[in-house]
Amino acid sequence: MATALRVAVQRLNPKHREDIARHLLQLPENDRRLRFGHQVRDQAVREYVDGVDFERDRVFGILGDDLSLIGVAHLALDPVEKLAELGVSVDPSSRVKGYGYALLHRSVLHAANLGYRTMFMVCLAENGIMMHLAKKAGLTVVTEAGEADARLKLDRLAHGGVFEEAIADQFALVDTMLKQQYLWLAQPKAAEKNLVGEMPAGERRKGALAGIG
Ligand SMILES: CC(C)(COP(=O)(O)OP(=O)(O)OC[C@H]1O[C@@H](n2cnc3c(N)ncnc32)[C@H](O)[C@@H]1OP(=O)(O)O)[C@@H](O)C(=O)NCCC(=O)NCCS
Repeated sequence: MATALRVAVQRLNPKHREDIARHLLQLPENDRRLRFGHQVRDQAVREYVDGVDFERDRVFGILGDDLSLIGVAHLALDPVEKLAELGVSVDPSSRVKGYGYALLHRSVLHAANLGYRTMFMVCLAENGIMMHLAKKAGLTVVTEAGEADARLKLDRLAHGGVFEEAIADQFALVDTMLKQQYLWLAQPKAAEKNLVGEMPAGERRKGALAGIG
């Protein structure tokens, strides 16, 4: 599996719920259908995000220059069966930059390090981009009745790497610090009031860096 170290992938926590919801809700209708496998209403998206179990599952994200989420991967974990299911999405304006693959790669690495045996994704058979990415990451894609099931038998040695994961986390931390510092320089008043981290993403987008990213 090709590595994706040049993209910083963050581990998300419950404080990111609002940003995750914003990211999913602003996906165009067809992308949202591809992400969830069927049409999903706004309310159902909110309920899905509210229901994400951050204790059991893992959620990874990629931050834009204004620290808003531009890509999200939800790795839903079944600790009994040792199965991991992945759902991933990237903002349309940030696509084809390797972010989707980076989220997939980071999720495979993490699931393998946790000792999970299988990772799978269920996507629509028409989703050529996701199937391309799944194959690139080594998943076996089986298509049936309009759905594609992409699976990877995880092997700690082949797919894992504690050192690689530690480096990925450090890289993500440095990435956040640099973006935060850049925002502070661009929005000193907000920084003085310590508002940047608490400002809703929509407001941040209207800030000095709204055109970047
Ligand atoms: C699938 C998705 C996450 C990919 O995000 P992304 O950031 O654009 O992904 P990447 O930049 O890493 O890779 C895109 C790849 O698709 C390839 N691609 C672009 N158009 C394509 C097409 N029509 N058919 C096949 N592959 C295509 C690109 O060449 C690139 O591959 P490469 O890096 O090997 O050249 C994004 O399109 C998305 O959010 N889609 C809607 C939600 C969804 O479908 N989620 C998956 C189901 S869970």
